[in-house]
Amino acid sequence: MCCVQPKENHMTELELIIDFHKNSERQGPGSFEETIKAINFIKLPKDRKLRIADIGCGSGGQTITLAQNLNGQITAVDLFPEFLDELNKKSKKLGLTDKIITLKNSMDDLPFNNQEFDIIWAEGAIYNIGFEKGVKIWKEYLKSGGFLALSEITWITNSRPCEIEEFWKLEYPEIDTASTKIRILEENDFTLEGYFNISQKSWITNYYKPMEARFEEFLKRNNNSKLAQKVVDDHKAEIDLYKKYSNYYSYGFYIARKN
Ligand SMILES: C[S@@+](CC[C@H](N)C(=O)[O-])C[C@H]1O[C@@H](n2cnc3c(N)ncnc32)[C@H](O)[C@@H]1O
Repeated sequence: MCCVQPKENHMTELELIIDFHKNSERQGPGSFEETIKAINFIKLPKDRKLRIADIGCGSGGQTITLAQNLNGQITAVDLFPEFLDELNKKSKKLGLTDKIITLKNSMDDLPFNNQEFDIIWAEGAIYNIGFEKGVKIWKEYLKSGGFLALSEITWITNSRPCEIEEFWKLEYPEIDTASTKIRILEENDFTLEGYFNISQKSWITNYYKPMEARFEEFLKRNNNSKLAQKVVDDHKAEIDLYKKYSNYYSYGFYIARKN
């Protein structure tokens, strides 16, 4: 009997998910155009140096756009250093290191002061602590008159098929219509300045197509392990579900001013 064990891949599922996503342009659906569209709802003096937090920044797809289109300094926060390393590399290459500071921290325990920021940005990230909890905690860090810009998974119709309703109720029970999310913002002293749903192109062309192109190489570098295959299968199921039900949900982009 041979005592040599086949080489096993000891990465955990979370490590594999990070490995799968870290080299991608974005870690969630979105686009340069939509980040700019959201920026355009923000009415703050152009000559003032703004303090901006980008929470759950990932590898910084939107952070770079913020740095190139807003006057000020950005603190880009993520829980995983692998994503921040990617952002630091990009920011160095583009000469933006004086505008982007990265911070490894959880979004529910941020080392920020009250009223420190002019803008708090979070694309596809607030769901990690829940929309309402995030709004309540983060509003303290915003100056009065400051802006919160969030993209959040949102029902775009009033009713939908059971399969998708049940899937999302399990994945993220806080999923709801824009009217409910806007009410939460209003109950927390915000006035809505802008809202739009991100386009299907941002899901398919910008996010899922590049993701599909990475499956094979990801499996190869992880020795086709069972866990790597599971990561791929889970992502494929997510893509299939979106393709089937894209008329029922999207990311809503909410831009609100603190009163
Ligand atoms: C869907 S991705 C969005 C990333 C990026 N904003 C984008 O749109 O490409 C969510 C991000 O939240 C980060 N994240 C998850 N839990 C977190 C936490 N507790 N604190 C800070 N970041 C967290 C993830 O590492 C990931 O980068």
